[in-house]
Amino acid sequence: MCGIIGILGSNPAVPRMLESLKRLEYRGYDSAGVATLDGGKIDRRRAPGKLEALTSALAQDPLPGNVGIGHTRWATHGEPTEANAHPHATDKVAIVHNGIIENFKALKDSLLADGAVFEGETDTEVVARLLTRELNNGAAPREAFQATLAQLEGAFALCVMIAGEENLMFGAREGSPLVVGLGTGENYLGSDAMALAGLSNRLIYLEEGDWVELSRDDYQIFDRANQLVARPVSISQVAATMIDKGNHRHFMQKEIYEQPTVVAQTLGRYLDPNAGTVRLPGMPFDLADIPKVTLVACGTSFYAAQVARYWIEKIARVPVEVDIASEFRYRDPVYADGGLALFISQSGETMDTLAALRHAKEGGQHVASIVNVLGSTMARESDLVLPMHAGPEVGVASTKAFTCSLSVLASFTIALAEAKGQIDAEAVSGYVNELERAPALMAKILANDEEIEAIARDIATAQDILFVGRGIYFPIAMEGALKLKEISYIHAEGYAAGELKHGPIALIDEHVPVIGIAPNGGLSEKTVSNLQEIMARKGKVVLLSDMEGGVADDMYAQFKMPSAGDLITPILYALPVQLLSYYAAVEKGTDVDMPRNLAKSVTVE
Ligand code: M6R
Repeated sequence: MCGIIGILGSNPAVPRMLESLKRLEYRGYDSAGVATLDGGKIDRRRAPGKLEALTSALAQDPLPGNVGIGHTRWATHGEPTEANAHPHATDKVAIVHNGIIENFKALKDSLLADGAVFEGETDTEVVARLLTRELNNGAAPREAFQATLAQLEGAFALCVMIAGEENLMFGAREGSPLVVGLGTGENYLGSDAMALAGLSNRLIYLEEGDWVELSRDDYQIFDRANQLVARPVSISQVAATMIDKGNHRHFMQKEIYEQPTVVAQTLGRYLDPNAGTVRLPGMPFDLADIPKVTLVACGTSFYAAQVARYWIEKIARVPVEVDIASEFRYRDPVYADGGLALFISQSGETMDTLAALRHAKEGGQHVASIVNVLGSTMARESDLVLPMHAGPEVGVASTKAFTCSLSVLASFTIALAEAKGQIDAEAVSGYVNELERAPALMAKILANDEEIEAIARDIATAQDILFVGRGIYFPIAMEGALKLKEISYIHAEGYAAGELKHGPIALIDEHVPVIGIAPNGGLSEKTVSNLQEIMARKGKVVLLSDMEGGVADDMYAQFKMPSAGDLITPILYALPVQLLSYYAAVEKGTDVDMPRNLAKSVTVE
């Protein structure tokens, strides 16, 4: 959360920083700010709210200077006011920060005792004033920065400018990502490759504890022990032009409709349809030896993990444990010898998932991750990376990353089942053929979007909506509820259909729409019985199913789905629940791509 950019350049910094901040806004949009150095002096502009407020402020009161730092904020300490917006500055330094300084109270008390005056309530302002104190005490910039870092506890990525130093910038990484971008006669710092797209494709990912001193022509990276270190330069594939809504009204809409393409792209990396086989990237361990799989993730990625549990247990017959990342390490999990811990994350930076990954690594597990951002910390710290190839996902509500994660997980399941001797080559080929059908069926569902749009507009006035499903569709129900609440602010819950009668059915009356997810076959009859129980209590049932002719006269609506095999139905049923949420949010007029209180990348605990 929070996006940071630093430019040590030879052209005006502000327009370039605004471009970067636009690409970083997915990390937080409570406030934005920039500071520049011009004639050795620091000046800044900050504005609460989205980036456009800062852009307007800068149009009225421009900020010259070729050196600058910028920030887009997801508030942790202090409300999203101008005073709490970054950069935090004194007459000597300006700082932007992503993360949380955990010992900020003790540091603040010591600064207050020294007579420091604070203008806001953020933990970051403490860092600006600490650094100023070191400089006031006569330390040179590098020593002052080192001494400041030594006092900080918590998670941070920092980018720092110092008054009078027009060819100097510092950055530090401890728990929150920071990337150095190398230019020609210019150098940069940013939260990720997206921040630096358009500035540089030659990137250096700092490691935990690293800090960096930049000039325009040079850089030096030091580790936590202040030893000079060499870190590899990687070439980013992220282009500035990739972050574009095209003809769509929202990024979320674009990303929903891209799914047939990106799922095909993802499956293309794992399946060989001609040979009828699955190929995973070079495996550092033998799948046949895996005694247990532990799946860990947050939010939508967690629901992908829950779907995968059904697949892996049913098809590969390997025991699976699934947990929410923020809970995982605190319950002191029992690891199986030689077990596989598999982490799912679009961003590859989610702090809770990353901490869980490190816990599993220390616990001796083989560590694999399914990520969308290839240069992400999770990808770099995993023994095995299974990329999802969804392309940049910008909308805060995750859509294509979900179906692409499922595509990877389905491919992984087949490979695991084959390695374990649970299925033969013919069965593998059958599953491969089935998966290959998914993109075309997804396109077919999206082509009928007016129907689901009409249903969404109808139910958008509801205060509460339930999603129900059984078995592998229970996680799809929970994903539907998450999607709906996060972008439309309608209260929604996902339940196992059979669980309703144990309490939640008390919520049902004629005002409560219930979305029933019930593909024909398997447990569908049982789900339909549960839907009948809801209708008997006047609940408005919307059925998502391939069943013919509806299941009851008093059903409120049905969205007809195509029939498909068991492996791909969860992927297909993700689409109508995404569309329902999207169109309900549009009907309500909420900010679909940047819903309130949220950020795309959650890099705090
Ligand atoms: O980047 P990750 O996949 O680790 O993110 C996990 C969740 O924060 C994310 O899926 C979140 O729940 C989405 N906003 C849901 O739409």
